[in-house]
Amino acid sequence: MEGHSMRPIRKVLIGVTGASGSIYAERLIQLLLDSVDRIYLVITETGEKVAQHELKSESLLVKASLGKLTKQELSIIRPFKINDLFAPCASGTAAPDAMIVVPSSMGTLARIATGVSSNLLERSADVVLKQRRRLIICPREMPFNLIHLRNMTLLAEAGAEILPLMPGFYQKPKTMEDLVNFCVGKVLEQLDIPHDLYKPWNSRLI
Ligand SMILES: Cc1cc2nc3c(=O)[nH]c(=O)nc-3n(C[C@H](O)[C@H](O)[C@H](O)COP(=O)(O)O)c2cc1C
Repeated sequence: MEGHSMRPIRKVLIGVTGASGSIYAERLIQLLLDSVDRIYLVITETGEKVAQHELKSESLLVKASLGKLTKQELSIIRPFKINDLFAPCASGTAAPDAMIVVPSSMGTLARIATGVSSNLLERSADVVLKQRRRLIICPREMPFNLIHLRNMTLLAEAGAEILPLMPGFYQKPKTMEDLVNFCVGKVLEQLDIPHDLYKPWNSRLI
């Protein structure tokens, strides 16, 4: 697979599935609000239920799932229904600069890996790969079975970047927010979007 496209990241698609860890998507969206022009948001049916279970009612994801985002939030976040195959991101002509599936269930990961495209999230990922845009997949499962591992290999071979939701501890996290920020910071770094969520490792030497 060739190197990544150097397109500036202005239009991002966040795909949220029914894996545990909606808080990662919530934090990523909050941070992207200040650094991109447009956030397309596609949440699977189970993703909505898990977000409602794991997050507070005032969170962006829960509000998006209930159609309650404010006018100001909607000026950047554009939610689409999971079955809206007429949405712009279903077509190569309107592919985002980058798509992040966070958290990614093993089911959605498998369907993207095998090109199933049975809903808008899966179709958008298919489009992003074919248009050679950035596709970042943040899987969450433990343990992985051989099918999960093979599907991740397939995706990596097709050009997707696999960023597992595996926080490190060398930054000495003190809160759950620190752990979430660690993983979200890795996603931003992958896209060359600056952040100050934690100090770079060995920053005193740079
Ligand atoms: C509370 C809850 C947590 C879940 N966590 C995970 C998980 O971490 N990883 C995973 O692959 N599936 C998890 N699942 C199962 C998925 O939600 C399920 O496979 C679903 O069909 C995924 O659909 P989607 O990919 O369309 O969102 C969880 C389900 C529930 C109800």
